[in-house]
Amino acid sequence: MLTETELTVVVMGLGYIGLPTAAVIARTGARVLGVDVTESVVETINSGRVHIEEVDLDGLVSGVVARGTLRASMTIEPADVFVIAVPTPFDDDHAPDIGYVLNAATTIAPVLKPGDTIILESTSPVGTTEQVRDLLAKLRPDIRVPGRAGEQADIAIAYCPERVLPGRILVELIDNDRVIGGITPRCARKALTFYRRFVRGACVTTTARAAEMTKLTENAFRDVNIAFANELSLIADTMGVDVWEVIRLANRHPRVNILQPGPGVGGHCIAVDPWFLVHAAPDQTPLIRTAREVNDGKTDHVIAQVAALVESMPGAPVACLGLAFKANIDDFRESPALKVAQAVAQAFGDRVRIVEPYARTLPAALAQTGATLVDVDTAIETCPIMVVLVDHDVFKSIPLEERADKAVLDTRGIWPDQPRPVISAAARSGSQRQPG
Ligand SMILES: NC(=O)c1ccc[n+]([C@@H]2O[C@H](COP(=O)([O-])OP(=O)(O)OC[C@H]3O[C@@H](n4cnc5c(N)ncnc54)[C@H](O)[C@@H]3O)[C@@H](O)[C@H]2O)c1
Repeated sequence: MLTETELTVVVMGLGYIGLPTAAVIARTGARVLGVDVTESVVETINSGRVHIEEVDLDGLVSGVVARGTLRASMTIEPADVFVIAVPTPFDDDHAPDIGYVLNAATTIAPVLKPGDTIILESTSPVGTTEQVRDLLAKLRPDIRVPGRAGEQADIAIAYCPERVLPGRILVELIDNDRVIGGITPRCARKALTFYRRFVRGACVTTTARAAEMTKLTENAFRDVNIAFANELSLIADTMGVDVWEVIRLANRHPRVNILQPGPGVGGHCIAVDPWFLVHAAPDQTPLIRTAREVNDGKTDHVIAQVAALVESMPGAPVACLGLAFKANIDDFRESPALKVAQAVAQAFGDRVRIVEPYARTLPAALAQTGATLVDVDTAIETCPIMVVLVDHDVFKSIPLEERADKAVLDTRGIWPDQPRPVISAAARSGSQRQPG
C-alpha cells in the first residue's frame, strides 16, 4: 500500500479540468507532475501562477507549487497514476476527435511499468478507453493489459468523467459523486482507491463503456431540456407572451421543472457531447439531434431579433452584454453570446460596444469589425440599445432607473422589471433573417 508521500501522479493536460485536478491531488501530499504541450502553460504554473480564471485556483496552485508537490513540464516522467484530461473536440461533421487522447496515451507508453494506473477523464465517445488500452498494448507489448490478460494484467485502465461546474470546480471536484468505469472490475477498484484520496462524494464503480456513456447522457439530458425551454421561448415570442413568466408559473406544478431559455447553448460540454451520441447511433437519436438543432437555431433567432432592433434605431450605439458561454466565467468556447456579438458586430461595426468583465481584450474576430470593448458604466452612458447575452452578476445588478429608457433585448431574463422592448414584427415572428 502506498503512503501519501510515496504516491506519484502525472496529469496530462493542464486546462480547466487538468490544472484544478492536479492541484487538488497535490494538496493531499502526492507528488504531482502536470504535463502539457503548451510551453506558456508550463512556465506559468511553475512560476506559481494560473492561466485560467477559476475561483480560488490561484491561491491553491501557488501554495502547492511553493510546497513542491505540483510541478509542470512538457516532458513525461514515470508515475504510479496517470490522469488524462486533454481536449476531445469534434470535427466539421460533428465526428468526435480522440486524437489528443491517443497522443497523450502515446506519450505515457514509454514510462509505463507494472502496477501503474491510467485514468481517462476527458469526455469521450463510448469505446475510447478500450482504444487507449489497445494502443498501449501495441506500444508496450511487454506489458499485459486489462481485458486481454484477464485479472492477470500488469496495469489498470479506467474511465472517470468530470462533471464539475466552472466557477465551482474546486468545490465540486471534492463533493461531487464520481462514476468510475474499469476495463475490468479490478481496474475500477484501483481507480476508486485513487479517487478516495480527495473525493468526498460517493464513488460508484461500473464498466468503462457505461461510464463513458453516462457522461454523454448527462449532457444530452441537459441539452434536450434546455432545447424545450428555448422552443418555448420561440413560441412565446410568436404569441406575445412573456416566456419567463410562463416557465415560472408552470414550475409551480409539483412535477414540472422547466429549465431557463437563453441565446443558445455553449461551452465545451453540452454543445458538443450530444453529438458523440448522435454520431455513434444516428438512427436512434432523432430527439438528441433535434435538441442540438433547436439550441443552435435559437442563436440564429436572437441574431435576427438584435438586427431588427438595431435597424429600427438608425445610428444608435448598441451594447452587447457578455461573451462568455455562461455567467461569471471567462470561458468563451462554443459561446452563443460570442456568436451573436460577432454577427451583430459584422453587420453594424463601430456602432457595437461589447461589455465583458472577463475579457481584457476583444477576441480577434470581433476586434476586426470595428466593435469596441467598454466597461459597463460606459455602455449605460452611451448605448440606447442593450442586449443581454450573459447573466453575469454585474449585469444583474444594474437597477431599472439606469436602463428604463433603453431599448432592451434580454435573452437571459435577468431584468424582469424592464418595460418590454419594441421589436419589429419580422423579429417577433421568429424570422431567421441574418443581419447584413
Ligand atoms: N471545462 C469543463 O468544464 C469540462 C467539464 C467536464 C469535462 N470536460 C472535459 O475535460 C476534457 C478537458 O477539457 P478542458 O476544458 O480542461 O480543456 P482545455 O482546453 O482547457 O485544456 C486541455 C489542455 O490539454 C493540453 N494538451 C493537449 N494535448 C495534450 C497532450 N497530448 N499532452 C498533454 N497536454 C495536452 C492543452 O495544451 C490544454 O492546456 C475535455 O474532454 C472536456 O470535454 C471539461
